Amino acid sequence: MSDRLFIFDTTLRDGEQVPGCQLNTVEKIQVAKQLELLGVDVIEAGFPISSPGDFNSVIEISKAVTWPTICALTRAVEKDIDVAAESLQYAKHKRIHTGIGTSDSHIKYKFNSNREEIIERAVRAVAYAKRYVEDVEFYAEDAGRTDNEYLARVVEAVIKAGATVVNIPDTTGYCMPDEYGAKIKYLMEHVNGIDKAIISTHCHNDLGMATANTLQGVLNGARQVEVTINGIGERAGNTSLEEIAMILRCHKHVGIDTNINTTKIYPTSRMVSSLMNMPVQPNKAIVGRNAFAHSSGIHQDGVLKNVQTYEIMDPKDVGLDDNAIVLTARSGRAALKYRLHVNGCDIESEERLDKIYKKFLELADKKKEITDDDILILAGADTAESHAVKLDFLQVTTGMGCKSVASIGLDISGQKFEEASSGNGPVDAAIKALKKIIQKQMVLKEFTIQAISKGSDDVGKVHMQVEYNGNVYYGFGANTDIVTASVEAYIDCINKFRK
Ligand code: KIV
Ligand code: ZN
Repeated sequence: MSDRLFIFDTTLRDGEQVPGCQLNTVEKIQVAKQLELLGVDVIEAGFPISSPGDFNSVIEISKAVTWPTICALTRAVEKDIDVAAESLQYAKHKRIHTGIGTSDSHIKYKFNSNREEIIERAVRAVAYAKRYVEDVEFYAEDAGRTDNEYLARVVEAVIKAGATVVNIPDTTGYCMPDEYGAKIKYLMEHVNGIDKAIISTHCHNDLGMATANTLQGVLNGARQVEVTINGIGERAGNTSLEEIAMILRCHKHVGIDTNINTTKIYPTSRMVSSLMNMPVQPNKAIVGRNAFAHSSGIHQDGVLKNVQTYEIMDPKDVGLDDNAIVLTARSGRAALKYRLHVNGCDIESEERLDKIYKKFLELADKKKEITDDDILILAGADTAESHAVKLDFLQVTTGMGCKSVASIGLDISGQKFEEASSGNGPVDAAIKALKKIIQKQMVLKEFTIQAISKGSDDVGKVHMQVEYNGNVYYGFGANTDIVTASVEAYIDCINKFRK
């Protein structure tokens, strides 16, 4: 008989903390519904005390999904717990996730406290959360660097106070797999009452060991894993959901099952990447563009003779469909709608579909074949229509041995503005002209251009970071013309700080 492993998805909390990955409430609901279809057990929907936006998202996600438990994060602070409980009022299954740092450096430098006082605060927080909900998860922040003997005392105390799940985060991604596995084993063997709670892993990927550590945690007794789609999360990210789900599926002999419908993995990955404007690295396990691409002659020859020679998973099992229809200018609305659906984006209103279809035809005029990435960008671009600052026109003259010159037209809340400038290249010229209109002290801090598929007619995706008034704003643009995509990304930043 196999054991059941609970999947706790924190894409909307730890994942969403990544600079530039913030989603609005509507987008979060879209992701949460997709996570429900994927079969996750718990959705960590936010950190409600941190902002009214987070609070509201937890409320709306609670209303929108049915089966998964909705979890809200707090510090071990009563006010945080009050706000989390309020945000969970509509959840059908609810959990409060509270906790405190337990490593010596957290105790000394973060809390200026001592070990005994931290245990008291942990117990008080769990008991307080218990007044509101039955299901209380406790996290021992920086457990990865916490002495095992002390950690066992903390875990025992919070279970006694009523914690139903105890999370052992390797917050800094420091542990080695054998060390993390041994930590979980130590807790399983030394904590009185351990059978009354589920032990959870929460691993960060700073040294590229998050998945290995999580797996070691599971092999040593943890029965919940905290993961994110595409492994996004603080710094180098969290353990990725798709890796854990597919490891357990490929290695059935381990005898551990999840509720994940693996065929929903790929669409979910695409949806999260597209909504967060966070590209997936091409060689990312399971969901990267090259994950199932055999390029060397020897491999191709082997796969043609028998796929098992070089494939350990069937791409269909993760939702990659071989028979993907290639969309062209002759494709109709139905094909576009279906392809968006396959990629996790359901378009319910005919009016919205018409708008996307119009943009699709414009793009198909410039590009022979339209990829999934292209249509997801088109579907997402819809939101730009409500922005105050819009690009009206852009004309650039550039070439070798001459200065680039750009003239630009902006529509700012219905008023038209035009300017021109020369520059050290077409993007520089266009941005200088734009700045003449906007007249703000903005500094471009980061600028990346990426082509997604093949062909000189590909859509270029541009990510930018612009500093204004001491804050950094993240912008995104996508266009077959990379100068236009760059200006759109810059304008996206401007719209963010004008909000
Ligand atoms: O990494 C971490 O320790 C966390 C906790 C807040 C659970 O994200
Ligand atoms: Zn974390």
